[in-house]
Amino acid sequence: MSARKRVGVLVSGRGSNLQALIDASQAPDYPAEIVLVISNVAGVHGLARAEDAGIPTRVISHKDFATRQDFEAMLDEALTGAHVELLCNAGFMRLLTEGFVTRWLNRHLNIHPSLLPAFKGLHTHARVLEAGARITGCTVHFVRAAMDDGPIVAQAAVPVNPGDTEDDLAARVLQAEHRLYPHALRLVTSGKVRVDGEHVVGMPQPEGETALFSPPLPGTF
Ligand code: GRF
Repeated sequence: MSARKRVGVLVSGRGSNLQALIDASQAPDYPAEIVLVISNVAGVHGLARAEDAGIPTRVISHKDFATRQDFEAMLDEALTGAHVELLCNAGFMRLLTEGFVTRWLNRHLNIHPSLLPAFKGLHTHARVLEAGARITGCTVHFVRAAMDDGPIVAQAAVPVNPGDTEDDLAARVLQAEHRLYPHALRLVTSGKVRVDGEHVVGMPQPEGETALFSPPLPGTF
């Protein structure tokens, strides 16, 4: 078996998606290993999760740098120093400049709690409810300079149920995120998919994984 891909994860908070990636990567046949977790915020739970798993961590606070470029140069130095091959944003709350995005082009994933390209940006679930959408979900995509933009690796659909609050929806989507991100990272690091222009091509929906893309929907639709 070829060597596992060396993955770095960027977090800013709770780190539940990081935990899903850590758990998945503990399987011996998983094609990726997490070799570094960087947070731009000190003391967050994501860092504790990494430490508990014995994964090296760094805190690189954007507040310690005069410019975005200086902050990103330090990020890049830490990632390169750890020989990171693929980068995953997992609740990382900083926008990255075009220079950094270009440097990590097609080697950098993000997860967003909506079915992109719908509902980019913050307060996703509130806006889904406001719009009266009946289906929402989550997306793993390669990062581009525009926020929540880039070639889509995988998506999971999640129903919006009558009477849902923002918290109900956030919790339901988060459960789907925890299944989707390990799945998408496996697709990318096993070489089953690749980026062709602004699309991901290959086998994004292998047999047996259909449920990730279209979970059983309740009869209320
Ligand atoms: C997730 O909903 C993710 O999609 C979004 O930020 C949230 C991070 O949650 N980008 P966690 O830190 O992974 O628990």
